[in-house]
Amino acid sequence: MMNISIFGLGYVGAVSLACLARDGHDVTGVDIAPEKLELIRSGRTPVVEEGMVDLIARVVAEGRVRVDSDTRAAVLRSDLSLVCVGTPSAPNGSQDQSAILRIAADIGAALREKSTPHVVAFRSTLAPGTVEDVLRPLVEAASGKRDGVDFHLCFQPEFLREGSAIRDYDAPPFVVVGACSDFAVERIRDLFGHLPCRFLRTSIRAAETVKYCCNNFHALKIVFANETARLCEALGVDPFEVMNLVCSDTQLNISPAYLRPGFAFGGSCLGKDLRATLHLARTRDVELPVLGSVLESNSKHLEHAISKILASGKRHIGLVGLSFKPGTDDLRESPLVHLAERCLGKGLSLVVYDPSVHLSKLLGANLRYIEATVPHLGKLLREHLEEVVAESELLVVALADPGTVEVLVREVRPDQLVLDLVRIPDAAALRGRYMGLCW
Ligand SMILES: NC(=O)c1ccc[n+]([C@@H]2O[C@H](COP(=O)([O-])OP(=O)(O)OC[C@H]3O[C@@H](n4cnc5c(N)ncnc54)[C@H](O)[C@@H]3O)[C@@H](O)[C@H]2O)c1
Repeated sequence: MMNISIFGLGYVGAVSLACLARDGHDVTGVDIAPEKLELIRSGRTPVVEEGMVDLIARVVAEGRVRVDSDTRAAVLRSDLSLVCVGTPSAPNGSQDQSAILRIAADIGAALREKSTPHVVAFRSTLAPGTVEDVLRPLVEAASGKRDGVDFHLCFQPEFLREGSAIRDYDAPPFVVVGACSDFAVERIRDLFGHLPCRFLRTSIRAAETVKYCCNNFHALKIVFANETARLCEALGVDPFEVMNLVCSDTQLNISPAYLRPGFAFGGSCLGKDLRATLHLARTRDVELPVLGSVLESNSKHLEHAISKILASGKRHIGLVGLSFKPGTDDLRESPLVHLAERCLGKGLSLVVYDPSVHLSKLLGANLRYIEATVPHLGKLLREHLEEVVAESELLVVALADPGTVEVLVREVRPDQLVLDLVRIPDAAALRGRYMGLCW
């Protein structure tokens, strides 16, 4: 069992205090609001949460909870501090970090007097980079000590939801710890390793970012379901029936499918069906701003690749892949065709390799599309990847199958640049200069 200090006794801090004390730890709660300290001191909860009234009364009566307004005393009394102070929005949308800055400086000053290793776990939601770029220097300066040597900082995002906070505390989706030191990770494991979920270690920056990413994803999902419902209402369709069906596909819908960073989407279906959905919504006067911005976001991603190609200053471009996804010769709405067209438009020389695309075999709508978009494709296509590598200064790679990667590893020269659109496995084995699309 551990001695723990908790800074900030709002929803996150108060629930953590009650649950850690329930689990047998000795916990000291610190807050700048005297009324919160007084409530807890008298066995009452400072937040309205299911189960908190009874739990706080019990753990306070059992004597495992103290409260204090003195940061120094709380740090000296504990082995580990959880920092849960608020990080609200400033008027310009940025994060108001005044509370966390103050607490970091106060904890640092207290650490000056401590000779045993102390773990500080930041649990407030923080803009990526805050712990390493702002809080670590602050604590080091105030303590005169070194992170990873004399004390150990880490970031552990909190995923509880108000209204079911105790249940979420006991059954979180996962425990994520961003840390540089094993010591910090092991202390967090001592506290939360028993929970019925995966315990995942990552970098501090990734842990800070994943919290934002999860909340943004939740917001996006809610808005998606509600936009779908508004369209359903206008069409006389039951939105619950539709969304239940959507969620019953755990292969493509509620799954990691389509959640891997990569290149823009394309193909004969997604763009066409989105446009038809938006047209339908317009005819019924239904506004769908999120769905309405999906195609724009997709073209921004294409532009991102094009700007990297142009910024490289290379004139001879080799494109590896052309169809909208590997293994098909469907070129309709392939973002790689747009990319090829844009390179040609900018006066760059281009050669293309795609083992699935044989001009002589293209038929029907596919052939008409390519004749209209890149009429001179025949002159650009090469039969072998080796030819494309030999003729290029910059290789834009959109295929990552083992055969393609093997040739790239063998043929790419140190003077060549590789722009990776698909996260090539074994990219470190490439002899050229490597550039990821956004990694
Ligand atoms: N509420 C949630 O459901 C939830 C879930 C996950 C993460 N978070 C994040 O956790 C953090 C805390 O959220 P919350 O909802 O518990 O906030 P809250 O506003 O309810 O509580 C914050 C507490 O910090 C105290 N405080 C401010 N400055 C202090 C200082 N210098 N020393 C000690 N205490 C100080 C405040 O008095 C307040 O009691 C935020 O960053 C939030 O984004 C919240």
